[in-house]
Amino acid sequence: MTDSVNVNYDTLIPNNVGLASDRRVLRGLEQWHSNYLNWWKQTGPEGFQDASVYLRTAVSVEREGWAKFGFVKMPDYRWGILLAPAVEDRRIPFGLHKGEPVWQEIPGEYRSMLRRLIVIQGDTEPASVEQQRYLGQTAPSLYDMRNVFQVNVEEARHLWAMVYLLHKYFGRDGREEAQELLSRRSGDEDRPRLLGAFNEETPDWLSFFMFTFFTDRDGKMQLESLAQSGFDPLSRTTRFMLTEEAHHMFVGISGISRVIQKTCSAMKEAGIEDPNEIESIRSLGVIDLPTIQKKANFHYSVSLDLFGSELSTNAANFFNSGLKGRYQENDIDDDHCLTDATYPVMRLINGVITQTQEAALPALNMRLRDDYVRDCARGVERWNQLIAKEGIEFRVELPHVAFNRHVGEFSNIKATPQGMIINETKWQENLQEYLPSIEDKAYIASLMRPVTAPGSYASWISPPARMIDNKSEDFEFVRIQH
Ligand SMILES: [Fe+2]
Ligand SMILES: [Fe+2]
Repeated sequence: MTDSVNVNYDTLIPNNVGLASDRRVLRGLEQWHSNYLNWWKQTGPEGFQDASVYLRTAVSVEREGWAKFGFVKMPDYRWGILLAPAVEDRRIPFGLHKGEPVWQEIPGEYRSMLRRLIVIQGDTEPASVEQQRYLGQTAPSLYDMRNVFQVNVEEARHLWAMVYLLHKYFGRDGREEAQELLSRRSGDEDRPRLLGAFNEETPDWLSFFMFTFFTDRDGKMQLESLAQSGFDPLSRTTRFMLTEEAHHMFVGISGISRVIQKTCSAMKEAGIEDPNEIESIRSLGVIDLPTIQKKANFHYSVSLDLFGSELSTNAANFFNSGLKGRYQENDIDDDHCLTDATYPVMRLINGVITQTQEAALPALNMRLRDDYVRDCARGVERWNQLIAKEGIEFRVELPHVAFNRHVGEFSNIKATPQGMIINETKWQENLQEYLPSIEDKAYIASLMRPVTAPGSYASWISPPARMIDNKSEDFEFVRIQH
């Protein structure tokens, strides 16, 4: 084994997997590398390929101190292949093979299932880079601009993580899939990305913060369950990805908190108590809380769709075969096989939203979604504490899981954010109360003007509590070349 905690940066592709002595995979990846760079230049941050950005790069995979900060032009970023350290004598934690040693090679009978899982995860990574392509141009500060670029290079590194597995373990069809990952495009009519939320637009910064809060959080849940995998290389690669994902979560939750903070202080300063005085609040150059609620309604509901159908034989098969576990599998007190277990599932029965007990194995998507809902609720609670502290009467609420769904049990009905089933006419009548209206979107768009003076922020967002890497408040996080 040549794997180590330190990353070798002497080669074209930094890695801790001993790539230099793995000629076949190295050659494949070097070829893919040039196509990858073309993809990055075509779809990565528009207008900032020559800017020097203060980015972190992974230099080790140890829990502490894995990152090194420095100025780098994004096309020169050292995207690498990083696996978390192997756990000695690791055993498959769940499913039919529970207790057997983990696999270092792919078991033949699970090959196509595993490829499917890796391709679906891999496809989301470049998609978000494509979705966030224009955000640099309207960044509310250099601090925020640096953060979106950090997220971008790391999502692109996650693509590398999945492509390594495809090249290393799947031979020719793996290499073909790796190529396909570079040819699909977010939102493209003919060659869209595989999952709905990754074809939506991220046109403004409120959308970006909502995306990192809600959609990256789905990513976190998926990675957590893949980190349990009996296929050890997948477990190790996703374990390291999770350390990067923590920063994406931070960007989302702190970003929205800062927007809410600014709105609340501006309202207080102007003596406005009622959060529904939209016109007067908007005249202060901040985003009113009801609009933030509508944005949350949208991003939450499209992210719920990412969990798939509530009842799914695929989900049962992934678990049974030891490929994809549950969120925090090790902390769950049961037999980890679920053969006779049941799980409560929210279903649509005779037109009524009903909770029924179902076999636990096919209900695993539902279970992961429940874990996700709890995780989201904890974050939203932090926003609500902030609003309460400012003495404003308003709560952001997560809508009902039946609201605005396009996948699963509730995809054929219309329900209010409170979970009341309504007809199409009523839905259309109230749509602009539920989801951002054309006017709301136009207002948000009108605020998206770039602020590029170090230490300055747009009118609609508070400065962060702390700078990245303890830098001073007026640190120039991005040196834009003109
Ligand atoms: Fe990612
Ligand atoms: Fe992410």
